[in-house]
Amino acid sequence: MCNACIPLLNDAKPVEPFADQLMNMLNQGALSLMVSIGHRTGLFDSMAELKETTVQKITNHAGLEKRYVKEWLAAMVVGGIVYYRPDKKTYQLPQSHADLLTRTASPDNIAVYLQYISILGQVEDRIVNCFRQGGGVDYEHFLGFHAVMAEDSSQTVVSALEENIIPLVNQLEPDLERGISVLDVGCGRGRALSYLAKRYPNSKFTGFDLSAEALADAHQYAQQRGLSNVTFIERDLTSFNQQAEENQFEWVTAFDAIHDQVEPQNVLNGIYKTLKPGGTFLMQDIRASSNLENNLKHPIAPFLYTISTMHCMTVSLAQDGAGLGTMWGEELAMEMLGKAGFAKIEVNQLEHDFQNNFYVMSK
Ligand SMILES: C[S@@+](CC[C@H](N)C(=O)[O-])C[C@H]1O[C@@H](n2cnc3c(N)ncnc32)[C@H](O)[C@@H]1O
Repeated sequence: MCNACIPLLNDAKPVEPFADQLMNMLNQGALSLMVSIGHRTGLFDSMAELKETTVQKITNHAGLEKRYVKEWLAAMVVGGIVYYRPDKKTYQLPQSHADLLTRTASPDNIAVYLQYISILGQVEDRIVNCFRQGGGVDYEHFLGFHAVMAEDSSQTVVSALEENIIPLVNQLEPDLERGISVLDVGCGRGRALSYLAKRYPNSKFTGFDLSAEALADAHQYAQQRGLSNVTFIERDLTSFNQQAEENQFEWVTAFDAIHDQVEPQNVLNGIYKTLKPGGTFLMQDIRASSNLENNLKHPIAPFLYTISTMHCMTVSLAQDGAGLGTMWGEELAMEMLGKAGFAKIEVNQLEHDFQNNFYVMSK
């Protein structure tokens, strides 16, 4: 046994609290699925509107099946999410909970993120297989991933673009007003680009992504809003270092899109190449350390290492990639950005997004 392990063993909790922890996981894990269902079916939104009410009224308002709604409400009540009055058989979503669970609460709607638990559950069999045989699980098996990612992005990126993210780059706002070329790598459903395209009609916006499904949605979304200054292009960025056109863009962004790439170093090198001299790269990526021992107190590290194993790392390994994983961390990120050619890198943290760093650097 290594000496460094001893303090950890001495700190080990007695068995009984650990049993409680496991029971708690069972309950909270199950509730995650029910919260996801409550979001997707609009039940939280209905309950927030109806205040204290009956199963029948909730069922009618949400347009759902009463038997399922009743069972879901029971889970919500015993889980402490919904209040119940046995004498009147009424249910109420308290305002303080509605403020974290409804669409009108966005960008603070935490139910959006709980959907990831169900998405990961879909691929468990395939992941177990990877533990035995290596390899990875391709993006195509994560049904509904791009839809949830777009909701996530609308909350963590789009809602903060104007007030928090754009001001991180010196002079960016007037440049966008005047008209510049912007690239978003790994744009997914392109919600950030569409927002920017509408807000800054003199600038031109391009999104690259591998997923035809995500891009079709991005295109339709932009078209429905009559945006003619944004283009979404299907492009595999694996060899972006070789394929990137030189000196094309004044601003390049990557929102949560570097660590799950097949060859992230190639993508970063390509970004450097495609930036115009003086242009800026802004990378939003997970705020954590590359060293496990520094992440022991990270508030959502268990979730992040899990999403890494069951999504971010595996989608890269599925294509024989680097498999960096979600928790590649700040130290490795800085090293790789440096290797790409960036000399001075600012690491910013924004109040609305405790989960990410915003790295800003110029060519
Ligand atoms: C975690 S998602 C982020 C999407 C988007 N930036 C957002 O914030 O909503 C990562 C994106 O990278 C894309 N991606 C993964 N591998 C890629 C590759 N080799 N080439 C291009 N895009 C890729 C995925 O399709 C996905 O849309």
